[in-house]
Amino acid sequence: MAPVPAPVTAPVPVPAPVLAIEGLDKRFGGIVVADGIDLTLTAGRIVGLIGPNGAGKTSLFNLISGVFPPDAGTIRLDGQRLDGLAMHRRAGLGLARTWQNLRLFPSLSVLDNLMMGPRSYPGERLLRLALDPGGVRRQEDETRRRARAVLERTRLAGVAGTRAADLTFGQQKLVGVARALMNDARCLLLDEPMAGVEGQAYEIMQAVVREVAASGVAVCVVEHNVAFIRDLCDEGVFMFAGRVLARGPVGTLIADPRLTELYFGT
Ligand SMILES: Nc1ncnc2c1ncn2[C@@H]1O[C@H](COP(=O)(O)OP(=O)(O)OP(=O)(O)O)[C@@H](O)[C@H]1O
Ligand SMILES: [Mg+2]
Repeated sequence: MAPVPAPVTAPVPVPAPVLAIEGLDKRFGGIVVADGIDLTLTAGRIVGLIGPNGAGKTSLFNLISGVFPPDAGTIRLDGQRLDGLAMHRRAGLGLARTWQNLRLFPSLSVLDNLMMGPRSYPGERLLRLALDPGGVRRQEDETRRRARAVLERTRLAGVAGTRAADLTFGQQKLVGVARALMNDARCLLLDEPMAGVEGQAYEIMQAVVREVAASGVAVCVVEHNVAFIRDLCDEGVFMFAGRVLARGPVGTLIADPRLTELYFGT
């Protein structure tokens, strides 16, 4: 009989996390929105964040993006501490997010909505225009070129000149994602991208998020549309009362009677 080969013990390479959260706590008075949250997001992977209303999902995105500070804990992007930095600094380091309520400029065209990036501030352009008009024009040309490329990626090139208010709701949600993509992010947080979206925009949203992840971005999606999360995500995270209760394949999480009771019982 042939000798049994020795077991191979080569270590499986573990990819470095893009986003690493440790021990994150946050409370508002008696409401605990984050309770010892540990979470990592990895390049190329899509994590689905699920849990009932009020579980703390949006609050977690708010903590990561710097809407409000944590009481305790650390947030690192590619090893660099984010907590303590202003929102636009975090965006500058490669963090992008969308908002549960859209925050578009309804009377501006789709293209102009993208040109109004997370790093532009009112008045700033006028000052720079006075100091360095050529530089401002070059930068705007570059931003426009980038916006056109993002509109191609999000299948919105055909409505670049349309006012945001005149789009279907699904297209508006895609513009929200397109704005986030203007940032060349390392990590993308999507807060309920599918809420109210149906028809063609649903398929497009799914394809766009997949392509973004495939390009090496670490993606986290909050969504109540469980079918969307199940089809899209490599992994699910279940939150309840500010805590991460479970992490694993989405199919396993949504089949767990303890978790479904928490999801639907509240
Ligand atoms: N800035 C704030 N001040 C006080 N309470 C807040 C604040 N932000 C969130 N909360 C509370 O924290 C809890 C968690 O809210 P959060 O919006 O994070 O839930 P969620 O999981 O996103 O829910 P949903 O699925 O309904 O969007 C809620 O009770 C909410 O009222
Ligand atoms: Mg929310």
